[in-house]
Amino acid sequence: MTQLKFHWTKQAQHKNARAGTLHTAHGDVQTPTFMPVGTVGTVKAMTMDAVRSTGAGIVLGNTYHLMLRPGAELVHELGGLHKFMDWPGPILTDSGGFQVMSLGDLRKLDEDGVTFRSHIDGSAHRLTPESSTDIQYLLDATITMCFDECPALPASYEAIAKSMRMSMRWAERSRKQFKNRPGYAQFGIIQGGTEPDLRAESVEALTNIGFEGYAIGGLAVGEPQEQMFSTLDFTTHLMPTDKPRYLMGVGTPDDMLGAIERGVDMFDCVMPTRAGRTGRAYTSYGTLNMKNACHIHDPNPIDPECDCLACSKHSRAYIHHLFRSKEILGAMLLTWHNIAYYQRLMRIIRQAIIDDNLSEIAATLRANWAQ
Ligand code: GUN
Ligand code: ZN
Repeated sequence: MTQLKFHWTKQAQHKNARAGTLHTAHGDVQTPTFMPVGTVGTVKAMTMDAVRSTGAGIVLGNTYHLMLRPGAELVHELGGLHKFMDWPGPILTDSGGFQVMSLGDLRKLDEDGVTFRSHIDGSAHRLTPESSTDIQYLLDATITMCFDECPALPASYEAIAKSMRMSMRWAERSRKQFKNRPGYAQFGIIQGGTEPDLRAESVEALTNIGFEGYAIGGLAVGEPQEQMFSTLDFTTHLMPTDKPRYLMGVGTPDDMLGAIERGVDMFDCVMPTRAGRTGRAYTSYGTLNMKNACHIHDPNPIDPECDCLACSKHSRAYIHHLFRSKEILGAMLLTWHNIAYYQRLMRIIRQAIIDDNLSEIAATLRANWAQ
């Protein structure tokens, strides 16, 4: 048998939007794709069977959280993250740089890497491009991410330039440390804030190193949506056309649609899972607060167009009751629904790209969200 090489093939293109397939050691994934976030080896409040039933093809894990608990060696000893969490499909792991950044005063950064204190017990730890890459190897990530630094916006041009150039040196070290195997991949992460010349310099540095895919980092960190979109407009045009493009940490349905129209293929975000635990539902007609009293008598499903367990078996009145009673099942059902909505949205957009009518479908989606 010939060994599978990780690659992305394009099936269709509508303007800048692409429909394609990721081929990996752990199976194929149709793009555009949304990756549910499984930070500590669980998509919070969902069983992996439930995640699978929504049509999700790839999930995310986090180096930072898993290295602290239960530890990468333990996951390795138990057969890797796929087996540990019962997800035989592809897994992408973030490198830890971004999560460490959110620790604020608990971290100290230098050219070699980051020293930080655990949010769990205050113990001291260190991450470098080399150790982050090794941890992702032990976890058996299908897609390993480069270790990078993501500066908070707004920041000065000089600060963004300095940080991006260090991330590019870290990308080179991450690549050197990476043990590639058939069907596995490592993605570089483009930084440079909202500055066109810095983004161009970053793309150039990463494509010179050469990765199996490219991520756009440093966005959705507090800037308005127009700024994110304009940054994507000039960044995706510089990126290789034959490799997957991943916009990290994004976003709302409207953010993802706009990013797909600008040539992005992959997304991850805690929004649908987090919202599901706090009572917010994503639907074809915008968001609903399920805690709101307007649902008390409502016998209708959250979204009549959804085939998830919450929508096929339960009324809005019941989901409302679960949240009012602080029952765990409320979070479970609503998370399931939100992930099901995100996956259905990806399928609708993908089909529209293939049918070459994304412009019309996008207008309808936006009009419905605004209702
Ligand atoms: N998640 C969201 N943004 C980023 C980023 O810039 N870098 C990394 N590593 N992860 C992210
Ligand atoms: Zn549903």
